[in-house]
Formats: sequence, structure tokens, C-alpha cells
Amino acid sequence: MPVVEMVGITKHFGRVTANDHVDFELEKGEIHALLGENGAGKTTLMRILYGLYQADSGEIRVEGKPVHIGSPRDAIKLGIGMVTQHFALVPPFTVAENVIMGYRESLNMDIRAIEREVASAAARFGIAIDPAVQVRHLSVGQRQRVEILKALFRQAQVLILDEPTAVLVPQEVEALFETLRHLREQGISVVFISHKLNEVMAISDRVTVLRDGRVIDTLETATTTPPALARMMVGRETFGVVRQDAPQRDAEAVLEVQGLYAEDDRGLPAIKDISLVVRAGEILGIAGVGGNGQTELAETLCGIRRPSRGSIRVKGREVAGASPAEMTAAGVGRIPEDRHTGLVGDLTVAENLVMEVLPRFSRYGRLDKKQIHAYAQQLIEQFQIKARPGDRARTLSGGNLQKVLLARVLANQPDVIIAPQPTRGLDVGATEYVHNQLLAQRRRGAAILLISEDLDEIMALSDRIAVIYEGEIVGVLPVEDADVEHLGLLMSGVVKETQHGTAEV
Ligand SMILES: Nc1ncnc2c1ncn2[C@@H]1O[C@H](COP(=O)(O)OP(=O)(O)OP(=O)(O)O)[C@@H](O)[C@H]1O
Ligand SMILES: [Mg+2]
Repeated sequence: MPVVEMVGITKHFGRVTANDHVDFELEKGEIHALLGENGAGKTTLMRILYGLYQADSGEIRVEGKPVHIGSPRDAIKLGIGMVTQHFALVPPFTVAENVIMGYRESLNMDIRAIEREVASAAARFGIAIDPAVQVRHLSVGQRQRVEILKALFRQAQVLILDEPTAVLVPQEVEALFETLRHLREQGISVVFISHKLNEVMAISDRVTVLRDGRVIDTLETATTTPPALARMMVGRETFGVVRQDAPQRDAEAVLEVQGLYAEDDRGLPAIKDISLVVRAGEILGIAGVGGNGQTELAETLCGIRRPSRGSIRVKGREVAGASPAEMTAAGVGRIPEDRHTGLVGDLTVAENLVMEVLPRFSRYGRLDKKQIHAYAQQLIEQFQIKARPGDRARTLSGGNLQKVLLARVLANQPDVIIAPQPTRGLDVGATEYVHNQLLAQRRRGAAILLISEDLDEIMALSDRIAVIYEGEIVGVLPVEDADVEHLGLLMSGVVKETQHGTAEV
């Protein structure tokens, strides 16, 4: 008997049908992947199972019995836990305190005893974490482990993970998979949502594909292939993108960075002596493991973070230290790294689209609403955004949010485009779309800095690849000379490119 059966689940949001008569079964001790394009209804289905949303119709059975799940409290009582991308941890508290909090009255409990108990649970589930350390000292990946431990400590028999790997670096993904295999051995069932087909192939036993709120199929992972899954998700073949013709090596140097330094939020050096050139019609890829200065580099180049030293020139003009608005005016377009801070959820799609170019739409101190609407409608068509100008941004799926951000930036035809993690969390189709947009900008002659932790993406799009490690550029190679193994050595700081070739560090 399956641990969980969801039968005929339907959920509407206004005129959107997020789940349309969905049947979903979860066996005991299986890792079940949930796949689908942005907006297919994956998160909605799991939020219903966790009691965050109520289905309009349909039935949920746990171990064969029909249940009503009115809140996460009900779900937890039934042994269902969920880890979302927004962690609900208290940073000044320790791991053990966070795990126990809200579960047991901990007023007069012996903290050492709790720590021992949490440590033994962590060991049982194969989770590497120190119970005595304060959560504020933990990386994103470690915080996720605390959330998982929290659910397991509450006796979860079903663990729902909504895009857990989107915030993880490759090494952490491997550690998470180890934990999931541990859980499976102990009979715990896992729902694993991811857009990365290779992850789904590597970890899941079965996979259910959703499209437009409907189940397309549930199959054994071993019987399918990534292209077949992509076709089921998107409803057509996907091809990936191809970079054509190499750029001219002597094209104009549009972005020139010399000896750039900047500090992180704690005042520690984050980027050190970075020098690079991006020419017109060129994509320079910045490869590296997350947290090696990529965010600070992007922020400094966009005027969000002040450099402590160094020069940034755009078309020969010095702009180091300029404000974000001045950078935009100088021709620097930035695709924000975090979709949720890049957009204002309570504003409409149209308002978000014109945010950076408002003066263009004001006359005699008044905003021309009609003109804004027309402009938004045009971008919605051009970028194939599934939304109307008046929709609130927060109701859009991840892929459509990213399209809004791209449209806002690219409509200005910037000379320089800073693109940090432009496809994080996007499905196969939306990723292909973003890649094609970046290549179109390259053809137009923009100078593009692509910052990505996804080596496949870097290899597919870049003309040259620079590797960043601990805030420094440790090598720059034309894509023809780059192979994954060598890039991996550079990314992990084992070797460094010098004027005289590769050197061990
Ligand atoms: N709270 C909400 N209010 C209005 N519409 C919503 C809400 N939550 C989801 N939707 C809509 O329901 C549909 C399904 O969204 P859902 O978040 O479940 O998709 P998803 O498969 O998780 O997508 P992604 O891969 O982008 O996370 C989308 O069209 C979305 O815009
Ligand atoms: Mg989702």
C-alpha cells in the first residue's frame, strides 16, 4: 500500500488551474521525482499535501486512510514534512535549539542532552552537522540540512523537498543525495522536485511529469532518458542552443576592469585584483564554485557595491563607484541574481517592466498609464511571458518572473550585460529561452559577462572562460582550450594559469 495517495486533486487560483485532477502515489521508501516546466503545478501539489493550500476537490489518503490536512501541523502529525527554499530558522539559536523548537517544551531541558539527541539523529540519517553551532554561522547548504533534520526529528515518514539543489554547490548536492539514500534505506519516502534532469536520473526511483497542471505520466526512472523526460515536460523536442561564429578578437573592448577590489558584507576582502576585458559581441563566462566572490563581482560592476580599489570602464569611460542608476545610464544592464528581490511582488507586471525607465513614461509630472500598458503588452509578446500587464508579479511562476526581468533589462539594449546565474531554477524550456536571448544580445554586439555555477551552461555559451577562486581570477581560457576536468582543477584552487602556463598552487 502506498504511504500517500493523492486522488483527483484540483486547485484553481482565479482563472489559473494549477492542478487539474492530479493523481499521485508515493510508495514507502522510494525517492519520487516531480518534474515539470515552471508553473506546471509542482509546488502547488506539494503545498496541498503539506496543508499550506486546500484543494478545491480531490482526496488525500495516508496509509490507505482518507485524511483532512488543514495545516502543516496536521501534516506533521501524519508524518509529512516539507523543506522549502525559504528557511524558517532562528539564526542566533543553535542547530539543536532550532531542531527542537516548537516541537518540545524546551524551557527547562538540559541543552547538552538535547544536543546529544540531535547529534544521534543526525548520525542516524547521515547528516553532517554540529548541533552546538549557531545557525547564523552556517552556509545555505548547511541550513538546509538543519531543516531536513528538523522534519526528520518530528518523525517524518514522508519528506518533501522543493528544489533543494537550487541553492547547493555541486559538492553539497552529492552530500544531500547521500542523505536521501540513507533515508530510503530506513523506509522514508521522499518527493524530490528539481529541474535538473541529470539529478532526477541519478537519485530517483520513479518520476511523475506534470504539464499545465495535469499528470502526463509516472514512470520508473530506469526505463526513461533525459531527452524523453524533456519532451514529456515541454511537449516538444528540445535541442539546447548552439553558439555560432566566433567573435572578432579585435572587436571593441566594451567593458574593461583593472585591479578591482571589493569587500563582502562583513568587510572582508571578497574580490581581489580582478582584471578582465569583455569585447563587443563576446560572452565571457565566469566559472566557479558558489561563494568565491561571484555575487560581489556582479554587484560591484552594477554599482550596488562600492569597489575599494580599481577601475571599471564602459566604452572607455570610467564608472567605478557610480550608483546603480548611473551604471544603467552608462549602458550596463543587470539581470538580478535573485528574482524575488529583483521584482516587487505587489506591483503589476507592467509596473515592474517600466520601473527602471519611468521618466520615459511621465509627462508633466504624471505617468502615462496607457503608454505603460502598451509598452508592457509589447514586451510580453516579444518575450513570450505568460501573464497580463495588470497581473501582480507574485502570482507568476519562476520562469515567467525571469522573463520579466530579462525583458526589463534587454529592452534598453545595454552595451554591457551582467548576468549572474541567469537560469537558476528555470525549467528546460525557459533555460533554452534565456540562452537564446543572451546569444541574440551577443549577435547585436553586447558585451556579456555570464556568471554561472553550471559548467554546462558556461561551456555552451561562452567565447572565453575565466575561473574565479577565493575572489581572484585564476585562469582565462578560450572555450576551445577548456575542458571540464581542467576547469574543475582551477575551480577547486588546485592549479592556476600563469603567463608561463599552468602551475600547481
Ligand atoms: N498563491 C498563488 N496565487 C495565484 N496563483 C498562483 C499561486 N501559486 C501558484 N499560482 C499559479 O499556479 C500555477 C502553478 O504554480 P506552481 O508554483 O505550482 O508551479 P511550479 O511547477 O512549482 O513552477 P516552478 O518550477 O516555477 O516553481 C502557476 O500558473 C502559478 O502562477
Ligand atoms: Mg515551484
